[in-house]
Amino acid sequence: MNGLSTLLERASARRHALSRDELVALLGLAAPGEIAALRAAAYAVKVRHSGRLVSLRGIIEMGNVCAKDCYYCGIRKGNDCVGRFELDEEAVLRAVRRNIDLRYGSLVLQSGEIASEKHTAFIERILRKIDELGGGAIGVTLSLGEQSEETYARWRAAGAHRYLLRIETSSPELYAKLHPADHSFERRVDCLRLLRKCGYQVGSGVMSGLPGQTLDDLAGDILFFRDLDLDMIGMGPYIPHHDTPLGRDIPFTPDYAADHLRLGLNMIAATRLFLHDVNIASTTALQALADDGREQGVLAGANVIMPNITDTEYRRSYQLYENKPCLDENAEQCRFCLERRLAAIGETINWGARGDSPHYAARLGE
Ligand code: 5AD
Ligand code: FES
Repeated sequence: MNGLSTLLERASARRHALSRDELVALLGLAAPGEIAALRAAAYAVKVRHSGRLVSLRGIIEMGNVCAKDCYYCGIRKGNDCVGRFELDEEAVLRAVRRNIDLRYGSLVLQSGEIASEKHTAFIERILRKIDELGGGAIGVTLSLGEQSEETYARWRAAGAHRYLLRIETSSPELYAKLHPADHSFERRVDCLRLLRKCGYQVGSGVMSGLPGQTLDDLAGDILFFRDLDLDMIGMGPYIPHHDTPLGRDIPFTPDYAADHLRLGLNMIAATRLFLHDVNIASTTALQALADDGREQGVLAGANVIMPNITDTEYRRSYQLYENKPCLDENAEQCRFCLERRLAAIGETINWGARGDSPHYAARLGE
């Protein structure tokens, strides 16, 4: 690509300095030398904003009961092949204590989407207990789908700091192809605005490499992140799941893995170069495509990793996609594995720190 180094210099010097077409050009890079330059520029911006540190959030997969029927997802309501589970309060709190013992600093409560007073009150109770157990020092992120403003406000008041709600794709047309008619793109965008209004650090993200998705769609996703002024980004490659309508006929080959890994990493790098000071997660889906996928994500500009701390007996039932790694490794094994892997790339874990988004602090100070 002509002028790549000037373009990377401009993007590194100032955020929001790329046009849609320039984002498309970066996302499409495939030559090894060009990809290396892209990742190195993005990594330098990451180091400038968060050092050679990675912040961890233990993720607790609380249950796979879900009201949604997204065509790509392995725990969609219509998948009869998956056994459903819901952790009780004691099991969730066991994982919370594990997170504290491991000194992960922050944790994420994630489950399928459930909207009921019983569930809202259950989460509220858990949030209050986390506050007690961690002496108010633990960063708490929720990833519990679309909810009413009242529910978001109650959870925030009970101690949650951050909320993740992926838009999945910012193209309304593509969104409509990936979801049943009663799943509304507009409602999801509204939810992101409500979360912001309720005072959360707000995170969103997309899947890359979806059938029918173009590089222009992905460039649009990055502009969408800017327009919503997001604090955190969590993105990952789409990985076919064979018990879903979208993934049924997509063969998962080594070529698929290599192409989707490259695109996922280009997406992280371009997002870092465009937004600069947000938290970006290097997601488990990258690790499903390559053993060292998460480390590669960090070297492409991500600064957050979310290790699974769910009891191993439940992990098999929470496969949003196939080939999900670490199904049999317990939380302690994952901790040492991750520490060793990050040390190998010259990164240190930000032990015991909440690792809040620098962008959130900047926008509050504005
Ligand atoms: N491949 C990759 N990511 C997926 N997710 C759901 N299904 C898949 C899949 N097949 C992601 C969605 C969701 C997050 C919890 O998991 O982006 O928001
Ligand atoms: Fe789980 Fe490596 S992170 S075994």
